Amino acid sequence: MSKKFFMPTRVHHGLGSLSELNNLFGENDKVFIVTDKVLVSIGIAKKVMDILEANKVKYTVFDDVPVNPHEEAVEKALVLAKKNECNAVIALGGGSPLDVGKMVAFLMTNSGTLEEYQWDNKATEAPMAKLVNIPTTAGTGSEVTATAVIISRNTKKGIKRDDLFAFAAIIDPSLMVTMPPHITSTTGIDAFTHAYEAFVGLGSNPVTDAWAVEAMQLLVEFLPRAFVNGQDIEARENVALAAVLAGVAMDQAGLGFIHSCSGPVASYYNVPHGLSNAVFLPYALRFNMLAKLDKHVAIAEMFGMDTTGLSKREAAELAIDAVCLFLSDLNIPEGLFDYFEKEEDIPVFAQAACDMFLMRNNPRKPRPEELIPIFEAILKE
Ligand SMILES: [Fe+2]
Repeated sequence: MSKKFFMPTRVHHGLGSLSELNNLFGENDKVFIVTDKVLVSIGIAKKVMDILEANKVKYTVFDDVPVNPHEEAVEKALVLAKKNECNAVIALGGGSPLDVGKMVAFLMTNSGTLEEYQWDNKATEAPMAKLVNIPTTAGTGSEVTATAVIISRNTKKGIKRDDLFAFAAIIDPSLMVTMPPHITSTTGIDAFTHAYEAFVGLGSNPVTDAWAVEAMQLLVEFLPRAFVNGQDIEARENVALAAVLAGVAMDQAGLGFIHSCSGPVASYYNVPHGLSNAVFLPYALRFNMLAKLDKHVAIAEMFGMDTTGLSKREAAELAIDAVCLFLSDLNIPEGLFDYFEKEEDIPVFAQAACDMFLMRNNPRKPRPEELIPIFEAILKE
């Protein structure tokens, strides 16, 4: 089967890499900065503006991106960008500003509406405006993916096309030190689930495996350190790098069981994405293990588990023990008991998870009745 690998975004990574902005824009650029009010209030947006001003680059700021990337934010931002005749975009923030920024940069050069590209698969007319993604969390990987997830018609719907790759991504850990521990752990585990699902998924190939394995290894070593000490720059830098590697692997190889199961729970009960993924991680390993035994043995070994003298089946089992300890160290709860509303939701979630297109990439296909006990364990104390 033919497999493709394509990732054209330039990645600038490391402490102080924000200064690369000096080389990415010039006096002829009019930059549209897409961000949120929190990043303006804590002074992170100002760091970007200061560099642009020092280089005499004109800019306009849109700081009205909500926590979840709604289509209205794209539409509002686009009006402002066009009114100010901007020709480039800096998307600064977590997943929401990055996804909104991608679509604004795309619609600045492509006629028609967001709806036409999102729902009718309208063909791309022109390359997007120059886009530079600057993440301030380490998890979604959106900075290096060709996917924008935008809420439209009351659902989170991804728009995926090669035309959405940014010109550059700047991954500077100094922008991430203010992230509180529970955000560090849940966004970091989101990155781990991206790498895991890409690694065991049907769309994996040796190139995506290399990125996914490196991402998981970095997270095993550095995520607990970033969690217990947010000022640990080496840990922040490596967790941020892991999110990039996992993001590329996921974009190319696809997702699976975890994102399919967590999707309905997160949207019905408004659970943060990283948290809803984290609780499904051990269950995914248990469900997928027999389909990809060697890869689960490799995961056990990534965690330093001693597999000498064990059968592959026994060694793979250790991956689950290791993941549970990892989640416990990161203070991730075993379930979403506080969010649970009603019994009737469980079969609805199980069916929705089976129907998710992401589940097609999972190495083992579940039936709804196989998922019901998993949803019960996660939701009912
Ligand atoms: Fe995710």
